[in-house]
Amino acid sequence: VKVMVNDKIMDRSEAVIDIEDRGYQFGDGVYEVIRIYDGVMFTGDEHLERFYSSAEKIQITVPFQKEELLDLMNQLIKENNVKDGSVYMQLTRGASPRNHVFPSKDIKPVLTAYTKEVARPVESLENGVAAMIADDIRWLRCDIKSLNLLPNLLAKQAATEQGCYEAILHRDGLVTEGSSSNAYIVVDGKIKTHPATNLILNGITRQVLARICQNNNIPFVEEAFTLDELRNADEIFVTSTTSEVMPVVKLDGTEVGDGNPGELTRKLQTLFVEEFE
Ligand code: PDD
Repeated sequence: VKVMVNDKIMDRSEAVIDIEDRGYQFGDGVYEVIRIYDGVMFTGDEHLERFYSSAEKIQITVPFQKEELLDLMNQLIKENNVKDGSVYMQLTRGASPRNHVFPSKDIKPVLTAYTKEVARPVESLENGVAAMIADDIRWLRCDIKSLNLLPNLLAKQAATEQGCYEAILHRDGLVTEGSSSNAYIVVDGKIKTHPATNLILNGITRQVLARICQNNNIPFVEEAFTLDELRNADEIFVTSTTSEVMPVVKLDGTEVGDGNPGELTRKLQTLFVEEFE
């Protein structure tokens, strides 16, 4: 398998990262996960847009133009002959003697990327998944797709240990998002989700869904909702690059609605698949 380090495509066994890379030591960097359907990046432009914006928010300059980076990713996908999968890319502030202060300008950021085959989670999409509620203990810049994912990992691990697919997070009783997804409820035919503030990552899947809803006259309300609203919702679902539109049919051990994926969730799944099929 081939990977990318800066602008070089090489065998994975040849890739070298310095032990003082700031991504490794501090989580000082940003990343993206882009879906590949049938050999083609889905919403690649939007993901790159967010990548550049995340980097800018932490004062790292991406050492490529967007076009160049897209070309490099496409090259990597081709080299690895990826059909259905994903490309992971990250950019760190580079390698330099450990110091909290940013290194001097001549230290170059380090870009790495690799691809993998990932099947669509068809069974879970069909039957729905279980979720649990957890405290959102993250920082106040969740809009940045930062490498620092420790609170997300702790929440996901807790969920997994309870037999759940996802942890739905809340701050003081208001639902923000999932540990690695955006979260939504359906009440009386209306979709509700947390607005795209500093408290959530504005998912690309979320943005696609907002557009789909607009085009199909489905009410998409960007308004924070409470844990009570979550527990009493007609339908719950989460979205992400790899989870797509994932129905949540059990919350903290209690069935959501009749315990099957909801009607509107199903409709959104159908409309979403049309975006890449
Ligand atoms: N996670 N919120 C968080 C905290 C996330 O980590 C993600 C994505 C999303 C959904 O964003 P998008 O629709 O752009 O994938 C929301 C990725 C997939 C990951 O870390 O693996």
